[in-house]
Amino acid sequence: MEERIIYPELNNYLRSQLIPNTGLLKELEEFAKNPYIPIIQPEVAQLLKVFFSYSKPKKLLEVGTAIGYSAIFFAELMGKKGEIVTIERNPDMIKLAKENIQKAGLVDRITILEGDAKEILPALEGEFDTVFLDGAKGQYGKFLPKILQLLPTGGTLITDNILYRGIVASEELAPKKHITIARNLRSYIYDITHNHMLETTVIPIGDGVGISRKIRGEGNEKN
Ligand SMILES: C[S@@+](CC[C@H](N)C(=O)[O-])C[C@H]1O[C@@H](n2cnc3c(N)ncnc32)[C@H](O)[C@@H]1O
Repeated sequence: MEERIIYPELNNYLRSQLIPNTGLLKELEEFAKNPYIPIIQPEVAQLLKVFFSYSKPKKLLEVGTAIGYSAIFFAELMGKKGEIVTIERNPDMIKLAKENIQKAGLVDRITILEGDAKEILPALEGEFDTVFLDGAKGQYGKFLPKILQLLPTGGTLITDNILYRGIVASEELAPKKHITIARNLRSYIYDITHNHMLETTVIPIGDGVGISRKIRGEGNEKN
């Protein structure tokens, strides 16, 4: 099966136009190549760089820390007052993320919550103006009600890998072992595009990214 969202040649061209990172981010990009660790794709990172320059997030919740690459990238974009809480369940990733966050000098601004988001999210309190969902793709839908509670009106939910290599488009495209995940993502896309609290766009770059703005609160159907 050909797995793509846009034509590889166009993707490669667009990627070649991005200004490469330097320093620790570059080092982490190299580290994540072998063995492969999925980190945010350059086009999605660039989209969020531009988006954050408008939305100016102050407190961000991430699901899926991996080696801490996106958390470090976001913290650098958010400036000195930006705060990040990030959830990760894989102990090997947690160890690497801690080392990297230490190296980046961001221990005061990035907090890792260790464990499964399934258990951590329900107990989480407070408000996050931005939520970045980048782990547990099959469970995005289950997380949505709690995320809507954590997001104030005006807040943004960003969902990565939402098109899952394009196979969400049709069940015929999904290999058997990915059918459940593809179904769950289709149902999640329906939820975020039809929820009266959200205004959503799904952008086919990287592995697909959803950007949803919470435009009104629960029970506030009209405004
Ligand atoms: C795509 S990677 C995250 C990449 C990272 N956000 C970045 O761009 O640098 C997904 C991560 O989510 C973690 N993960 C998956 N399901 C999870 C869950 N239910 N709870 C917590 N972490 C989870 C995985 O262990 C993996 O490290």
